[in-house]
Amino acid sequence: MTESYIEIPDNSKGYNLDMFCVPKHYEQYLDSVLIPHGVISDRTERLARNIVKDMGEDELVVLCVLKGGYKFCADLLDYIKALNRNSERSIRMSVDFIRLKSYENDKSSGDIRVIGIDSLSTLAGKNVLIVEDIVDTGRTMKKLLKVVNENSPKSVQVCSLLVKRGKNEYRPAYIGFEVPDKFVVGYALDYNEYFRDLNHICIINDEGKKKFAV
Ligand code: HPA
Ligand code: MG
Repeated sequence: MTESYIEIPDNSKGYNLDMFCVPKHYEQYLDSVLIPHGVISDRTERLARNIVKDMGEDELVVLCVLKGGYKFCADLLDYIKALNRNSERSIRMSVDFIRLKSYENDKSSGDIRVIGIDSLSTLAGKNVLIVEDIVDTGRTMKKLLKVVNENSPKSVQVCSLLVKRGKNEYRPAYIGFEVPDKFVVGYALDYNEYFRDLNHICIINDEGKKKFAV
């Protein structure tokens, strides 16, 4: 499959906050709306169609990477479910939720720990779809793929809503948007746990970075 996605250029100004509905408590901490919620939904619908087309009739195990991936994964699965119930051809799905932790006491190894799932061995022989909010350097995803592949799945694909332009060591098969190398929040993407309760994907401003710094 060739890589295809919506490219949001570096010089994109996005949309003025006043043009959309943004929670009052975040208004002063945002620069602009980069991707309105409706556009996220419409793009997600198409990703669902692409995935169903490519997957054939094999059962799919969806691995949702929390916390940032929860909105995208839920919406993507809703669209896949809509296709399943309106088509002669459908794919059976199961869903698992994982979180990734780096090994704090062994920084040099650079390994990650997958938590929230009893055993990854249930992935053996299955077609796995990893659903992620954003691939930045791609280093975390490479590590996750290593761990998943150690459990002998039949196939593994990655679907990420966003990919940051720059030096990605890994690019997923399914990408929603390629975004400029700026910090984005909203639609479950956070800055120190804030901004998940924002519908649109927005660019945080310097005041926001300072206000919600840890
Ligand atoms: N926003 C939220 N989480 C992230 C980002 C970002 O821009 N990059 C990597 N993780
Ligand atoms: Mg993530």
